[in-house]
Amino acid sequence: MKPMRMDRLLANLGYGARKQIAALARQGRITRNGTPLLDVREKLIPDADLQSSLCIDDEPVDPLPGFAVMLHKPTGFTCSRKDPGRLVFEFFPERWLRRDPALSPVGRLDKDTSGLLIFTDDGQLNHRITHPRSHVSKTYLVTLDRPVTPDAITRFASGTLKLEDDDTPLLPAELEILSDHQTRLVIHEGRYHQVRRMFAAIGNHVTALHREAIGGLSVPADLPEGNWRIMTPTDLDQLL
Ligand code: URA
Repeated sequence: MKPMRMDRLLANLGYGARKQIAALARQGRITRNGTPLLDVREKLIPDADLQSSLCIDDEPVDPLPGFAVMLHKPTGFTCSRKDPGRLVFEFFPERWLRRDPALSPVGRLDKDTSGLLIFTDDGQLNHRITHPRSHVSKTYLVTLDRPVTPDAITRFASGTLKLEDDDTPLLPAELEILSDHQTRLVIHEGRYHQVRRMFAAIGNHVTALHREAIGGLSVPADLPEGNWRIMTPTDLDQLL
């Protein structure tokens, strides 16, 4: 990890322009182990030691670059910054929108889908999770308009089912029928509106969709909708 000037590091975390960081430093509001850091030119190494010792206004500094966060997304929020309406970023501190490198969702969930959504500022990690070669599965709880019949299991598992407007067939997916109108579906790729389009392809309609897990990582039972937490190395291991 390369040492970085304090003003640049904190500006990249969204704490303000360099001038504003300089003002914070002058006012003694940036501290390391309780000691004010007054010189914004000081070079800091963005490592675990800095993470645990640096405070702004007595609050631990935000996660340094190279982090991942999981959100239990409620319905009604969109992932794209360009879309009108409420955004998933609203759940995080506002300054996170000014981070450089930017925090991006790892894959997306539709506005009307709830469940596990991961974000990271680490492009390599994002790529590793989303690349088809990584074989990271996604598990959805799907509520349907019409009763689901067992032939859906075979069709989804076939590896020959095509979605409207797609040339390549879908990879085999595992469907479990939980009740007439509820299923659990595990998919191994991430096409646009994939789950809704899969059920449309067999003449059904999804009325509610919830992502229960990505890889081996489920929505934690103690993470209510609208809440987030920084991911630990154990979370990442489970995911990958
Ligand atoms: N498939 C969908 O149709 N929507 C999602 O949000 C995720 C998977």
